[in-house]
Amino acid sequence: MKAQLENIYSLAAADIEKANCINDLDEIRAKYLSRKGEFNEIKKNLKNLSDEDKRIIGSLANEITKKLETSLQEKHDKFYKEELNQKLQKERLDITLPGKYIPRGKVHPLTSTTNEIVSILQSLGFSVVESKDSPEVETEYFNFDMLNIPQDHPARDVQDTFFTTVAKNVVLRSQTSGAQIHVMENQKPPIRVISPGRVYRNENINARKNNFFHQIEGLYIDKNITFGDLKGVLNEFIRIYFGSSRPTRFRSSFFPFTEPSAEVDVQCIMCGGKGCKTCSGTGWLEVLGAGMVDPNVLRGVGIDPEIYSGFAFGMGVERFAMLKYAIDDIRLFFNDDVRFLKQF
Ligand code: PHE
Repeated sequence: MKAQLENIYSLAAADIEKANCINDLDEIRAKYLSRKGEFNEIKKNLKNLSDEDKRIIGSLANEITKKLETSLQEKHDKFYKEELNQKLQKERLDITLPGKYIPRGKVHPLTSTTNEIVSILQSLGFSVVESKDSPEVETEYFNFDMLNIPQDHPARDVQDTFFTTVAKNVVLRSQTSGAQIHVMENQKPPIRVISPGRVYRNENINARKNNFFHQIEGLYIDKNITFGDLKGVLNEFIRIYFGSSRPTRFRSSFFPFTEPSAEVDVQCIMCGGKGCKTCSGTGWLEVLGAGMVDPNVLRGVGIDPEIYSGFAFGMGVERFAMLKYAIDDIRLFFNDDVRFLKQF
């Protein structure tokens, strides 16, 4: 039996020696050391031996089993390490390689300028009108008629206004002032609203003009509103946007829907008032149109001008952005050139 044990041991040891992977080792263990393995078969015969032989053969069998277990375990550890290394090698990441460039989106300068203007005016008590009161596709009724703009006014000319084929009298709005009418038709005073949005004019495109641009309209209607309120609000607004050290001036002007009307200038931010190319040598830049809402307009929407009065104003967002960021060509806003856009 001793010879039998030693024979099996040398066969098993040789098998272990030849094993190539963890799987081989598992098979060897099953073949020799499992309950149905070859050693167990021999151990079954132990009961036929004398006590003395039982002890000797038994301990020899135990010793051999232990030796096999140990070398199986050693080989197993070795294979395991090798396989792990191979796997790590295969899945190796070069963390020094540059990562994929994921460009970060930015807010368009016209959007951020609009947001800034809107939030200043909100802080002065104005709220933004609902979009239903500010449609881009508009009727002549809102864009012209109710704003006291007569049928033969040159602004209606096909050269300025985009007419549509949708229906007679349907235009792409040429100004945000139509929002004034929508709001006053839907709301009783006091009214204190602003309305930002896109407007369209049939212009020849150049560095100063595009055939669409953006305006922000303002309207304040209540009892006892005076031109002093208009000046106070607009001066404060300009002071916050351009800085408190920048002087403003109000020039008398004309708009069909305001009386009296004014244009508001701010001291040229390029030359500080000395006169340069940007301000055409005048030292001033026009930034706003404004005026007291014409009594005719109030009557048209059913507001009694003997009881209520108010002012309106309108400004170009592109102009505000161009002045703040010293941009000299309006077309840059609309070209989608990332080299331009990523500067903001
Ligand atoms: N709608 C005028 C324009 O487009 C601006 C304006 C608005 C003037 C409100 C007075 C009052 O030029």
